[in-house]
Amino acid sequence: MLIRSVVRVFRSPAVFLVLLAACLLSGREAVAYTILTPPPGPGLTIQARRPAATLVIRVRDATEETRPRVYAASGDKGPGKVLVPVGRWQRPEGLFLHYRLRLRRGRNTFVIRPGDRKLVIRYRPVRALGGIDFVDPAVYVFHRRAVVPAACAACHGKGRPVATPPETSRFARNPAYSPLCFSCHRRLSRQEKWLHGPSANVLCLDCHRTGGRKTQVTIPSGRINELCFGCHVNKKKLLQKNFVHGPYAIGDCTVCHDPHGDAYKYQLWADGRAGICVGCHSDKKKSLKKSLGFYSHGIIEGRGCIACHDPHASDNRFQLHHPINQLCVSCHVELQGVRKGHPVGNHPLQGVPDPRHKGREFSCASCHNPHGSPYRYLLIGDVLGGHVCSKCHH
Ligand code: HEC
Ligand code: HEC
Ligand code: HEC
Ligand code: HEC
Ligand code: HEC
Ligand code: HEC
Ligand code: HEC
Ligand code: HEC
Ligand code: HEC
Ligand code: HEC
Repeated sequence: MLIRSVVRVFRSPAVFLVLLAACLLSGREAVAYTILTPPPGPGLTIQARRPAATLVIRVRDATEETRPRVYAASGDKGPGKVLVPVGRWQRPEGLFLHYRLRLRRGRNTFVIRPGDRKLVIRYRPVRALGGIDFVDPAVYVFHRRAVVPAACAACHGKGRPVATPPETSRFARNPAYSPLCFSCHRRLSRQEKWLHGPSANVLCLDCHRTGGRKTQVTIPSGRINELCFGCHVNKKKLLQKNFVHGPYAIGDCTVCHDPHGDAYKYQLWADGRAGICVGCHSDKKKSLKKSLGFYSHGIIEGRGCIACHDPHASDNRFQLHHPINQLCVSCHVELQGVRKGHPVGNHPLQGVPDPRHKGREFSCASCHNPHGSPYRYLLIGDVLGGHVCSKCHH
């Protein structure tokens, strides 16, 4: 009964026109809010370490009807979950709604109602910002024109602390901290488990500058190590070592360490003992633990790759802590001082060329793979049938 009468009402052309007009009017009403950041429009790409961005919307007259709602769209299926603002603050200019947008790699669509405005953000995760071209206008940079855009300055301006003052007791001892940066980026210096000293103390301007030429808040780029060496003076000497790890040699400290803080000790994005190594050296991933048909080197599961390698530099090839044989026998003490006689007869262990690696000296690693192997005792071939011997002896 009810359904039929509803259908009848909608069939009436007069009612239809009234409804259409109402829709159009409410559509116009939708423009009563402004998206302050990020700039809506096609081709917005955000390149950042963290998969998140801040959305700030200003509403002039905020009534229940005009207050915008933000939905995270799932694919092109239309609006999905409604987002809860992380803050809403009133000023004479209007109500400022703050949202935290979680981003996934690739295309992210948000729908803002009323008005069904779409905000499309392409997110490209990066390990380090050193390589991003901040001068390219196609790259979205929040601070490009001003440290604090005018629309935000009323609450976030210099010397104008926002509603909740930062934990003053914590910073009272530290007059040099940068409250300006803290008012918007407080998450950056709080959320991670392992914090970098200067960031934890909000000494943002020890590393960033305001009013640079390229961008208004400068991001240290290029050889970031120079910045780090400014305080970590002893780390500069490592560049003189004979073997410097690739990323360290090009000055890219932040490809491993987040200068603010990160989930793992020493502000690393994965466990510094092994996880971070296989993040780049993915071919070594299977060495992390023993698996069916694969013998991993027992030490990797405990002390990790850094039991043998220095993550920065050393005087030995492959940034090893010691020359290979010395390294191995530091744990396998039964072979200490043995130059000949393992595994058979008078077999040499060093001092002859390695037939399998041109230009390298014979060592334990000539017969054993230090990372792991499908063969027992981490050998390069099966002992049974002498296959391991025939790798060198034909
Ligand atoms: C030890 C030096 C250092 C300190 C202190 C520091 N930063 Fe940074 N910051 C950097 C470097 C270096 C980069 C570029 C990082 C990269 O290459 O990924 C950066 C990038 C950033 C970024 C963009 C990328 C990201 O990681 O999200 C933000 C935002 C930022 N800093 C804010 C701050 C704020 C706010 C503070 C104070 C709480 C601060 N920084 C303190 C060195 C520092
Ligand atoms: C009406 C005042 C007001 C205006 C205008 C304003 N904000 Fe805020 N904002 C605040 C307050 C208050 C906080 C909470 C600060 C705190 O917790 O100490 C905040 C927090 C933030 C945060 C941190 C949110 C979080 O995730 O913890 C960011 C980022 C931010 N604002 C960005 C902006 C930007 C960008 C603009 C301009 C487009 C802006 N705000 C304009 C009042 C305002
Ligand atoms: C008005 C709030 C606000 C203030 C104050 C602020 N930032 Fe930001 N900053 C942002 C927003 C918003 C972004 C874009 C990332 C995001 O959406 O979370 C950003 C991004 C950055 C980036 C990445 C590059 C870029 O421009 O997108 C750096 C670096 C940075 N801020 C450093 C700082 C430093 C250092 C200070 C203190 C001098 C500071 N910010 C003060 C809101 C603010
Ligand atoms: C303004 C001086 C300063 C700058 C610049 C600086 N650091 Fe630090 N760093 C510190 C201080 C202070 C500590 C804390 C030392 C402590 O607690 O023993 C620290 C600690 C660390 C630690 C942890 C060390 C430990 O033993 O726990 C790492 C890793 C680190 N910094 C890396 C970096 C990197 C990478 C850079 C360059 C992006 C950098 N730092 C730039 C001052 C600085
Ligand atoms: C390839 C990744 C990587 C790069 C690049 C890198 N580090 Fe590290 N760093 C590590 C790992 C892993 C550890 C932890 C080592 C450990 O647990 O003993 C570490 C530890 C540290 C520590 C604390 C322990 C110590 O050795 O004093 C400091 C400080 C540090 N790094 C500074 C730097 C600086 C400065 C640069 C750039 C010049 C840099 N790192 C580049 C991976 C890296
Ligand atoms: C951000 C990526 C990255 C991470 C993380 C990383 N490495 Fe590397 N590593 C490289 C690059 C790049 C090279 C240089 C490769 C080249 O020169 O061909 C390299 C070279 C090496 C080499 C020398 C290889 C050779 O053939 O001379 C060793 C050994 C090594 N890494 C071990 C490690 C260990 C151990 C860790 C963890 C502490 C680690 N790496 C973490 C990128 C990384
Ligand atoms: C027991 C000591 C030891 C451990 C632990 C160890 N390595 Fe090695 N690694 C060596 C030795 C010795 C060499 C050089 C000999 C060879 O493989 O020819 C080497 C060589 C390398 C090389 C360059 C040659 C190649 O095989 O690609 C890389 C990269 C490397 N290691 C990464 C890692 C990673 C990543 C881990 C942790 C998963 C790790 N290592 C754990 C001893 C070790
Ligand atoms: C930091 C200590 C350490 C270093 C350095 C080290 N190992 Fe090991 N190694 C171990 C541990 C721990 C095991 C596992 C022992 C077990 O499972 O009983 C192991 C196991 C082995 C095994 C297998 C033994 C068996 O009975 O299956 C061989 C072979 C081996 N290591 C050779 C080497 C060689 C070759 C080197 C040098 C490239 C080396 N190790 C360096 C600690 C080390
Ligand atoms: C010429 C090839 C060769 C070289 C070089 C070599 N090994 Fe071996 N290693 C073997 C073979 C083959 C076995 C298996 C022996 C057996 O079946 O009894 C073995 C077994 C082992 C074992 C496990 C056996 C046990 O007794 O627990 C360890 C540990 C070991 N080697 C360590 C080393 C170290 C450390 C070096 C360098 C000082 C080294 N090996 C050099 C071929 C070699
Ligand atoms: C990684 C290469 C390699 C493997 C694998 C290897 N050898 Fe050798 N072997 C050599 C080299 C190099 C010499 C020294 C040759 C020289 O001095 O001209 C040598 C020498 C010998 C000698 C002569 C030692 C002496 O008394 O002077 C014997 C016997 C021998 N190997 C047997 C074996 C047996 C058995 C195996 C398997 C368990 C084996 N080798 C595995 C490289 C290897």
